[in-house]
Amino acid sequence: MSQSLKIVSVLGTRPEIIKLSPLLPRLPEVCDRSIIVHSGQHYSYEMEAQFFEELHLPSSDYSLKAGAEGRGAGEQTALMLARLEPILQAEQPALVIVQGDTNTTLAGALVAAKLGLPVLHLEAGCRSFNRAMPEEINRVMVDHISHILLAPDHTAMKNLLNEGCDRHAALHLVGSTAIEACQRCAEFALHRPLLSQLDKNLRPGGYLAVTLHRAENTTPQVLPGLVQTLNQLAADWPIVFPVHPRTQLAIRQNGLHLDSRIITIPPLGYLDMLSLVYQAQALLTDSGGLQEEAAALNTPVLVLREETEWSYLVEAGKTVLVGNAYPQTIAAARAALQPTALETMRAATFDTCPDVTQAILNIIRAFLHLGATPHAAL
Ligand code: UD1
Repeated sequence: MSQSLKIVSVLGTRPEIIKLSPLLPRLPEVCDRSIIVHSGQHYSYEMEAQFFEELHLPSSDYSLKAGAEGRGAGEQTALMLARLEPILQAEQPALVIVQGDTNTTLAGALVAAKLGLPVLHLEAGCRSFNRAMPEEINRVMVDHISHILLAPDHTAMKNLLNEGCDRHAALHLVGSTAIEACQRCAEFALHRPLLSQLDKNLRPGGYLAVTLHRAENTTPQVLPGLVQTLNQLAADWPIVFPVHPRTQLAIRQNGLHLDSRIITIPPLGYLDMLSLVYQAQALLTDSGGLQEEAAALNTPVLVLREETEWSYLVEAGKTVLVGNAYPQTIAAARAALQPTALETMRAATFDTCPDVTQAILNIIRAFLHLGATPHAAL
């Protein structure tokens, strides 16, 4: 192994930290130095630092401090570009790794590609086909400037092929690191004393878990209908709702009120979140990562969106789209929460890839040491 082989991983938000968590500690197996650059896109303890601690991740080597406070997406991305470029120029990594679809993902891939450095995109090929989503723009851009594209599922792989990405990048179906991380942590999660700490009357299987944070769901047009939906469901179900900072702000700014029966709490740590979802009767969410995690934990998921990047789970019957428009959403949610509908979702099965992290390491090793990437079966 050459002494100068470095890999730079660029991350900056809660889902990136969690989804890179199985890979980061193992990168030293395939390079001389693994360097982590944190963009600061998420910058509070509860949205990022606690995940480094909880998942025992190596701390970051560089911080771009490009947090979102008072900044638009353009300014934030520009700051990341300007601050990341000299770091990559100085380090000259053999590979830059980015994950997902955030402004951090885009900035990391763009700077690296412009410097002629190879980019590996983890979770490539996910599409909502909704260009109004900022994340959709990020992921399409990143897939078209990266050199190695690692798809989490068959649908994502098909999307990459349909867009002709195989003409400029090596494509591999490796599976989902979100599911791998979740399966690894599920056992620990079950032993958390979360439910009794929240409310002594909460019982496994006896409540709904909720998360909500997408930009399109926190607008003055959409959020009131979603709050109304949750308030109506609270008449029939105990609900636990860890509230994302963006949603907290939007609820306040729009003068909305959640029913007092809904247990609202600050964002949870990863193990507590898995524990909450594992023991819930069902999860209502617009989160990307949680759709896969809940499916892996066999908790039925009602997706509070009109479309999803994880359509393979909808097709498998593991999750159901209930939309975000009142009153359709409350009607769809009530139907999905019928005992027989929930049982059908729990009984549904879906394909997962084994040994995701090992497959990624094999691809990286082949690329760095042989200058090639073995093609996995499509
Ligand atoms: C989405 C976006 C991503 C954006 C992020 C902002 C997609 C596909 N991606 O990711 O670009 O940066 O939102 O947040 O749309 N979790 C906790 N505690 C909680 C809630 C969630 O640990 O209180 C964990 C979940 O278990 C999961 C991850 O955080 O592992 C999901 O994070 P979330 O913020 O929901 O992001 P995504 O929707 O996956």
